Amino acid sequence: MNEFANKTAVITGGASGIGLAMGELFAAQGMKIVLADVEAGALDAAVARLREQGAECLGVVTDVSKADAVQALAERARTQFGAVHILCNNAGVFTGGLLWEESLADYHWLLDVNIWGVVHGIRSFVPMMIGQDCDCHIVNTASMAAVTAMPYSGIYHMSKHAVLALSESLYHELAFHAPKVKVSVLCPESVDTGIAAAERNRPAHYRGDGDIVESGARALVMDSLAQSVATGIHPRVMAQRVLEAIREERFYILSQDGWREAAHTRLDDIRAGRNPTFAPPVA
Ligand SMILES: NC(=O)c1ccc[n+]([C@@H]2O[C@H](COP(=O)([O-])OP(=O)(O)OC[C@H]3O[C@@H](n4cnc5c(N)ncnc54)[C@H](O)[C@@H]3O)[C@@H](O)[C@H]2O)c1
Repeated sequence: MNEFANKTAVITGGASGIGLAMGELFAAQGMKIVLADVEAGALDAAVARLREQGAECLGVVTDVSKADAVQALAERARTQFGAVHILCNNAGVFTGGLLWEESLADYHWLLDVNIWGVVHGIRSFVPMMIGQDCDCHIVNTASMAAVTAMPYSGIYHMSKHAVLALSESLYHELAFHAPKVKVSVLCPESVDTGIAAAERNRPAHYRGDGDIVESGARALVMDSLAQSVATGIHPRVMAQRVLEAIREERFYILSQDGWREAAHTRLDDIRAGRNPTFAPPVA
């Protein structure tokens, strides 16, 4: 896609971080923007910010883990703006710890948002885009955690591997059945966003007795995530990479830093049939 003016982009997790940066950059190309997010106050502020910048922007409070909510989002976007040309399945959350210590609520929360959010986006928007019969693009936010597997973040890695696999399958299916709808997968490294404070949006039904297990491993990984995110790159850089990939119809949007090396080491292990090397990304 090369022409953006007057087209419509829907971005989940659009009230903060990478989602908000994509909203601002798409708006600067003259697009109409629908920001969807579970955090109502932050969403209002983000919509106000885009409108101040001159954008036509709609905010829809949406919990992407719920199929009905994402279907309602798709219908609202179409009613408001007539069509949707770019969908960014971007909402995501993080928690960490040892896989046998983390609660079932931790597993359900991360998989419900990070995987099911993308599934719901695909099921609600792809048929609409195919029906529009025009150039469209879907961007699924995975992570460099989709091509590596480190300790203490296993649920997150598992969820992002699923997003990568779904996106690759979707790429092939669209190429065969609906080639006007393109797809990319965004795999960021450390980006300076609110992800280390994802607990702010953990719904009540994942917060019951025993749902949040304090442990040394969790404290360690949350602390190290907060540090790496605080020194991470600006979300605007991600938005620019995404826009470029949409223009070039490029599927993989990968980081260039130590995470890429960690992914190579993992592939080398698989090719050689070696046991996994512990090779954390070096900045
Ligand atoms: N920041 C990083 O270092 C990094 C690295 C790799 C991948 N990512 C991925 O980037 C994406 C965006 O995260 P971010 O880093 O901008 O963090 P962020 O916390 O700044 O933004 C995430 C947004 O998702 C929203 N959200 C959470 N649960 C939701 C739900 N159920 N329904 C709808 N919205 C929901 C949050 O309210 C928030 O506005 C996520 O998928 C994340 O996994 C981030």
